[in-house]
Amino acid sequence: MEKREQMYEGKAKKVFATDDPALCIVSYKDDATAFNGLKKGTIRGKGVVNNRMSNYLMKLLEAEGVPTHLVEELNDRETLVKRVQIVPLEVIIRNVAAGSFSKRVGCPEGTPLACTVLEYCYKDDDLGDPMVNDSHILAMQWATKEELDTIAKLTYKVNDVLKAFFKNVNIDLIDFKIEFGRLPDGTIVLADEISPDTCRIWDSTTHEKLDKDRFRRDLGNVEDAYEEMMRRIFG
Ligand code: TMP
Repeated sequence: MEKREQMYEGKAKKVFATDDPALCIVSYKDDATAFNGLKKGTIRGKGVVNNRMSNYLMKLLEAEGVPTHLVEELNDRETLVKRVQIVPLEVIIRNVAAGSFSKRVGCPEGTPLACTVLEYCYKDDDLGDPMVNDSHILAMQWATKEELDTIAKLTYKVNDVLKAFFKNVNIDLIDFKIEFGRLPDGTIVLADEISPDTCRIWDSTTHEKLDKDRFRRDLGNVEDAYEEMMRRIFG
């Protein structure tokens, strides 16, 4: 397998073609942004943490029956993945009130929720990733009814697996964002990443934030939080 030209550069990752049209290489950067790119910075070592943590969690999810894009970790920052067409949705699960949910409904961060919340945002930077509902998605044909049913079912499964995993390392999974892709045969698979960039993860005992909110909100010890997550997962 041979690395070829860069296909795409996002805020936190680059994607490269390979000599196999069905595969590409994702390369994780230390760049961090927030508020739709308004705030920019660097989190030293983040690319390594996110690559290794995301791959670890995707392997765990595969073993629990969630199909993913993961093929093989190549090195500290690079991973071979199946080439997919990304469904243009950010799929968000909330177990506890925080972030934009707390703001929207006027509920303090950390408030337990009576049931799990599932949200969708349309992936479009120019529009600021607006929240949309099922009928918006079907009306705009961003996904079919069947695909959306699969996405919702898989997302709840991801939540069950990740919540239990994090609980074992004394962390509460407050909320997270995931993305899905379509394989050439139409199969929906989990894509993108699962990392402190895309989850809210709080220490169960101290409620200390161990995620990108430390960067978004200038809480300090940003690198330490990513390193701590690495230690909790890999020892
Ligand atoms: P929110 O409370 O800001 O809507 O964020 C919900 C979850 O989604 C949180 O775990 C952080 C994650 N997230 C991303 O992964 N990318 C984003 O661009 C945003 C805004 C949130």
